[in-house]
Amino acid sequence: EKGGWPSFMKKEISEEPEAIANTLRGRLVDGRTVIPELEPLEPVFADIDRVVVLACGTAYYAGMLGKYAIEAWARIPVDVELSHEFRYREPVLSERTLVVSVSQSGETMDTLMAVKYASAAGARTLSICNVQGATIPRESDAILYTHAGPEVAVASTKAFVAQATALYLLALKLGESRGLLTPESAEPLIDELTSLPEKLQSVIADSSERIAELAKWSADTQSVLFLGRNVGYPIALEGALKLKELAYIHAEGFAAGELKHGPIALIEPGQLVFVVVPSPRHTGSLHPKVVSNIQEIRARGARVIAIAELGDAAVVSSADEVIRIPLAGPMFEPLLAVAPLHVFGMELAAAKGLDVDQPRNLAKSVTVE
Ligand code: BG6
Repeated sequence: EKGGWPSFMKKEISEEPEAIANTLRGRLVDGRTVIPELEPLEPVFADIDRVVVLACGTAYYAGMLGKYAIEAWARIPVDVELSHEFRYREPVLSERTLVVSVSQSGETMDTLMAVKYASAAGARTLSICNVQGATIPRESDAILYTHAGPEVAVASTKAFVAQATALYLLALKLGESRGLLTPESAEPLIDELTSLPEKLQSVIADSSERIAELAKWSADTQSVLFLGRNVGYPIALEGALKLKELAYIHAEGFAAGELKHGPIALIEPGQLVFVVVPSPRHTGSLHPKVVSNIQEIRARGARVIAIAELGDAAVVSSADEVIRIPLAGPMFEPLLAVAPLHVFGMELAAAKGLDVDQPRNLAKSVTVE
C-alpha cells in the first residue's frame, strides 16, 4: 500500500535508510559478522580464489560496489558480469570460484540461467536476493537475503542500497574468514555501516526538495550525463539508468577519468552533468582529479550539479549547484550519494507527467531470456 505517498517509488526511496538498517540487523556483533545463512559456504571461504558477481540492471551496479569492498577488505579478485553475457562465451570457473548472484526478485531469467551454468561448472553459488523463497536462491548453495521489504515500483531503489549493504557484509565475512579483518580492524568499517541509515535519512530530508526543483527546471532536457570515479562510478551508472527508465531521457554514466578519452566531445553549452565527488579527506583521494574534471566541462559550458561532502569547499567555486552528503568513509559515500539521483530520476519523470511506478516497456522481473 502507498499509505498516502504519491507513488510507490517515493515511498520506497524514503525507505532506503530502513532497507540498509534491516539488512544489517543482527548480522554484526562485537566486531564480527554473524550470518548463519552463509554457513553452507563457510568451509570454502578460505579457499576461493575468485569471486564472480552476476546481475542485471540496478543489481549489476550494486555488484560493482561489492567488487570494491571485497577486493579491499578480503583481497580476492572480483569480476562483475552481466548475467546475459556470462554463459554465451567460455567463462573460466572452478570449485574455487564463488559466484554471487544479485537479484531483487530472485526470478530474473538471465541471472537464473547464469547461476545454473556456474553451478554445473562446479562453482559455489551464493544468492543475494530480496524475495524470500524465490527461484534463484533455491538454485544456490547459500542465500544472503536483503531485507529491503517489498519493492513495488518497477525501477529499483531501496533494493539497490540493500544489495550493496549485503555485499559489504559478505566482504567483511570474507575478510574475516581469510584472517585479514580482526574485530579491531573491522570496527571502523562496521561503525560506518551502522551509521549509514541515519546519515542517509538526513541526505533524503535535506536534499529532496532542492532536487525536485532542479528536476522541474530540467524537464525539457534531452540528455543528462553522470560522472563518478571509483565507488562513485557505479553511482553515476545508476543515476543514468534511473533517468532512462523513469523519464525516458537519454542519459549516460561515465568514469570521470574516461572523459578525456571521448565523452568530453559531448559537452556543449547547457549540457546537464551530475558529478559524484569523492571526499577530499581520504588519503589518495581522487577529489582533485574530479574537481579538475568539473572545471574542464564547465569551461565548455556544462551545467554541473555536484554531489559532494559537507565542508568540501573546492566544489563550491567549480560547480553550479552542490548537493551535500554527510562525512563517510570512502567505501560508504556511494550509499549516501545515490539517493539524490534516485530522487532526481523520479522527480523528472513526475515533472513530465509520467507514471514513475510503471515506466513504459519495463517489467519488475523479467522472466524470459
Ligand atoms: C529489470 C528491472 O528488468 O530487472 C530493473 O526493471 C532491475 O529495475 C533488473 O534492476 C534486475 O532485476 P532483479 O530482480 O534481478 O534485481
